[in-house]
Amino acid sequence: MYRFKLFIISLLITGFCFKAQTVVWLDQLDLGVSTQGHGKPGINTSVDGKPLTIAGEIFKRGFGTHAESSLLIKLDGKAKNFTALVGLDDEIKDQTPAVEFEILGDNKKLWSSGIIHLGDKAKPVSVSLEGINQLELVVTDGGNGPYYDHADWVNAKFETTGVNTLKTFNPISSEEYILTPKASSVPKINSAKVFGVRPESPFLFRIPATGDRPMTFSVKGLPKGLRLDPKTGIITGKLNKKGIYDVELLAQNTKGKTSKKLKIVCGDKIALTPTMGWNSWNCFGLEVSSEKVKIAADALVKSGLADHGWSYINIDDSWQYNRDSKDKAKMRDEKGFIIPNSKFPDMKGLADYVHQNGLKMGIYSSPGPWTCGGCAGSYGYEKQDAESYSGWGIDYLKYDWCSYGGVIDGLPDNDPFKVSSLNFQGGSDLKTGIKPFKLMGDLLRDQPRDIVYNLCQYGMGDVWKWGDEVDAQSWRTTNDITDTWASVKSIALAQDKAAPFAKPGNWNDADMLVVGEVGWGNPHKSRLKPDEQYLHISLWSIFSAPLLIGCDLEKLDDFTLNLLTNDEVIAVNQDALGKQGMCLQTIGELRIYVKELEDGSKAVAFTNFGREKVSMNYKDFSKLGIAGEQIIRDLWRQKDLVKLNTTSESLSLDIPAHGVVYYKFIQNYL
Ligand code: GLA
Repeated sequence: MYRFKLFIISLLITGFCFKAQTVVWLDQLDLGVSTQGHGKPGINTSVDGKPLTIAGEIFKRGFGTHAESSLLIKLDGKAKNFTALVGLDDEIKDQTPAVEFEILGDNKKLWSSGIIHLGDKAKPVSVSLEGINQLELVVTDGGNGPYYDHADWVNAKFETTGVNTLKTFNPISSEEYILTPKASSVPKINSAKVFGVRPESPFLFRIPATGDRPMTFSVKGLPKGLRLDPKTGIITGKLNKKGIYDVELLAQNTKGKTSKKLKIVCGDKIALTPTMGWNSWNCFGLEVSSEKVKIAADALVKSGLADHGWSYINIDDSWQYNRDSKDKAKMRDEKGFIIPNSKFPDMKGLADYVHQNGLKMGIYSSPGPWTCGGCAGSYGYEKQDAESYSGWGIDYLKYDWCSYGGVIDGLPDNDPFKVSSLNFQGGSDLKTGIKPFKLMGDLLRDQPRDIVYNLCQYGMGDVWKWGDEVDAQSWRTTNDITDTWASVKSIALAQDKAAPFAKPGNWNDADMLVVGEVGWGNPHKSRLKPDEQYLHISLWSIFSAPLLIGCDLEKLDDFTLNLLTNDEVIAVNQDALGKQGMCLQTIGELRIYVKELEDGSKAVAFTNFGREKVSMNYKDFSKLGIAGEQIIRDLWRQKDLVKLNTTSESLSLDIPAHGVVYYKFIQNYL
């Protein structure tokens, strides 16, 4: 009898345990909340949507992601263990990705894979999760940047007790909130205080002003050679003598009038404030066309963005014929002049259209035979290209390294088709890296118009140290941005080293903005959370970075428009002193950036890179170079907050996770 009872009890226990222990596969959870450096989380696929494959072995189940990647899972002590295999996906070819997989339990590292390279066999992981409440699956880059880091967690599963699923989460708020006050109906002029032009170059300046239309413009002290259209506020003409011309811009409507001083500096330097405008790449990718560019130009005006100073309409890659396109006629004529592809039948007509709106037009090429997207580049035809741009009326050139690494020793077998469209060889070497940019820089200077010259070679050879020597006005400091927190964060953290080199006419380009509807040809709403977008725009403002909107301007929603039309945030970016803000203090995940402004005030961005909200009483003002009585103005809300004696008092701060508080400190002399 006793034995029988024991048998029943043990049967019950085994039965209970058997029932209570469940296998939960990682791919059954909501992976959509994960953050990753590029692309969408793959459920049972790689990040590119292909079968999960590591070192030749195909796996049916798992999570295909891209470094920097993080997935948070609530366990509440209900999971016993986690097992998986990890590795880099074979879908990457001809590149050298490297990653490290990590597992964190309640913010402590439980396991790490060590550096994993492409072709390494899938590495097993098994961690005990007893007592753990929160798990984080992380993929970090393996020390050589997060490029091509397609990382797979395969056969990944939990053994749980008492639950048959687990909840994933993202702690960053998704709530959109509007801070910028609506522009008033009374006229307000929003231009920078300074504008550079070279003698004899066509002058084009649209007075950016908000307020009810119709509006009448006038200018006091307009120098000879320039004329104003009083209805549109567009100033055109030519200055033939170097000099500084101080003018006063005036605007009037039925609600009132206003004026603002503008210093026109006619000399060697142009782009005295960072370029502001739109670029086709982040929304249309290779699917750009003349029609889409016209629509963008119209939308820049119609949406009111042009009234806040946004003025360039830049065509990125793919206005040229592609090496693979079926309809590639002749890419160049018999004299070597480039023939735009069939989607751009009349480049001069397009530039005229853009100019009629008082806007400027930009274009894109590569010093190599092919652009990054495989279209005709300028190699061997630099002179013809510079002349074409000038003849069409182009105002801006983005010149992108792409295939130049394949021709640093000349064109192999005289055959451009032997060169691949991406090759970074020689880019960091000063002798080979500078040469093609100097060649185009000199040619652009020879043209009878101002063409702002933007170098795009991702920061190789510390471009910020020599960009000015090749007559460039701006240069990309990092690789391509994408609409993820990991991307914005890594680009933001890479800016300080270049900061001392920024000055009027020389800007560090942190890449285009990723707010609004982006997608590189596959449109979707920016994956950045609202607070991350505030942080992104605030940092690009304080970095004095060129501001190039990367979204579809026809699909601007209120939140995005609000982010892009805050004149006080823009004014910090466009400040005439031309200094770049830098991080002067780090407190945990809080980074405090400070930018000196022309009027002696300081812009301060309290940025929170952490996942927890920061609330504090801040009093380290001496570390920011701030002392005495200050008026503190909230730039996003355009409102004075408080008068504070920064030497003796503290400031209470509440900074959202992945968010920002953006203030201006104005010395109070009264
Ligand atoms: C590179 C640049 C991008 C874009 C593409 C076009 O990747 O960095 O900004 O211009 O080329 O192919």
